[in-house]
Amino acid sequence: MKKIILSQVSKRYGEQAVVNDLDLDMADGEFVVLVGPSGCGKSTTLRMIAGLEDVSSGTIHIAGRDVTQLQPGERNIAMVFQNYALYPHKTVYENLAFGLRMRKVPAAEIETKVQWAAQMLGIESLLPRKPRQLSGGQMQRVSLGRALVRSPEVFLLDEPLSNLDAKLRIRMREEIAQLHKRVGTNMVYVTHDQVEAMTLGDRIVIMNQGKVQQVGRPLDVYDSPANLFVAGFIGAPEMNLIKGTLQDVRGQVVFQAPGITVPLGGAMPLAAKSGAGVVLGVRPEHASMEGEGNGPMGSVSLVEQLGAQTLTMLELDGGDQSVPGSPSRFRVLTGRRDNVQIGDRARLTMDISRIHLFDAVSGVNLKVA
Ligand SMILES: Nc1ncnc2c1ncn2[C@@H]1O[C@H](COP(=O)(O)OP(=O)(O)OP(=O)(O)O)[C@@H](O)[C@H]1O
Ligand SMILES: [Mg+2]
Repeated sequence: MKKIILSQVSKRYGEQAVVNDLDLDMADGEFVVLVGPSGCGKSTTLRMIAGLEDVSSGTIHIAGRDVTQLQPGERNIAMVFQNYALYPHKTVYENLAFGLRMRKVPAAEIETKVQWAAQMLGIESLLPRKPRQLSGGQMQRVSLGRALVRSPEVFLLDEPLSNLDAKLRIRMREEIAQLHKRVGTNMVYVTHDQVEAMTLGDRIVIMNQGKVQQVGRPLDVYDSPANLFVAGFIGAPEMNLIKGTLQDVRGQVVFQAPGITVPLGGAMPLAAKSGAGVVLGVRPEHASMEGEGNGPMGSVSLVEQLGAQTLTMLELDGGDQSVPGSPSRFRVLTGRRDNVQIGDRARLTMDISRIHLFDAVSGVNLKVA
């Protein structure tokens, strides 16, 4: 049975539609991440699942129940927010116990649950402290613990790590992944950080402007982005995107852009015609400056030494700056290279078996479609 089913869920504020006909179902125990740029409707979607916002249309089922019209308290969910919202004058123990006390849970059961949650999160020694005596990461753990003690059907988390510094965010990210494995409860997690989405989600839902762009397992989305938006959003450093056309040259497909000709071999994608406006997509790790050279020449304009890898920006010859979307800068990600210098000349090689082609107008991935 599906744990959560959203059917045709929409949210409008007056004339403005902020979530459009969203369909999504989640298997039992699944960790689903909603990801997308600011304002795309992630929090609104989560808040509709929680019952903190009404839906304008559509239905929401949780564990086989239609909860669309139910109050938040009747939905058996627990939500974790970005600002931990702990009670400042209560101890950690009381912060964890409070919700249970309000629901008249017997004292012995409260004690068991609080101790269990504290142990899950490694905060047993913090139980007597007040929130002001905690670090940001510890507060975030307490806030997770408060959700945990309720043994909900579903955890809803809205950017729970964004108040933490970069290092702690990575550690807490690992802890949330482990917590999910241990408790096995469904989690719906909202973030605008695509790395968090890729690393945490069993599946990720990429949203833009209130619409779902793609739903899939992280690597499937990475390997086969449904459209230009997903291609540009998922992956860091970003995919290189070059505007041009496809030409059929004696049965072989050739990509052409100002100053650039790349033989792609094989047949025209079914969805494209000769002369079609397309965008060629190449992930930085699928390009190099040492191969047989099927791309244009360029000059190195920037070198970023990342430690294990080197990110090189190549300023391509022939890239016409006056043409929007014309290729002038191309990112190449390789293993560490100590000897690349700004001004070096190199010929670009692209792994043709890994390239993407998008319709220039609709943005649809022509190889996936
Ligand atoms: N109460 C409201 N009245 C009118 N518009 C609203 C209201 N709440 C949210 N919106 C609008 O709905 C859109 C989606 O907001 P939402 O908070 O869901 O975005 P988000 O994806 O969570 O973004 P962020 O990453 O910045 O948190 C935004 O354009 C926002 O301005
Ligand atoms: Mg939000």
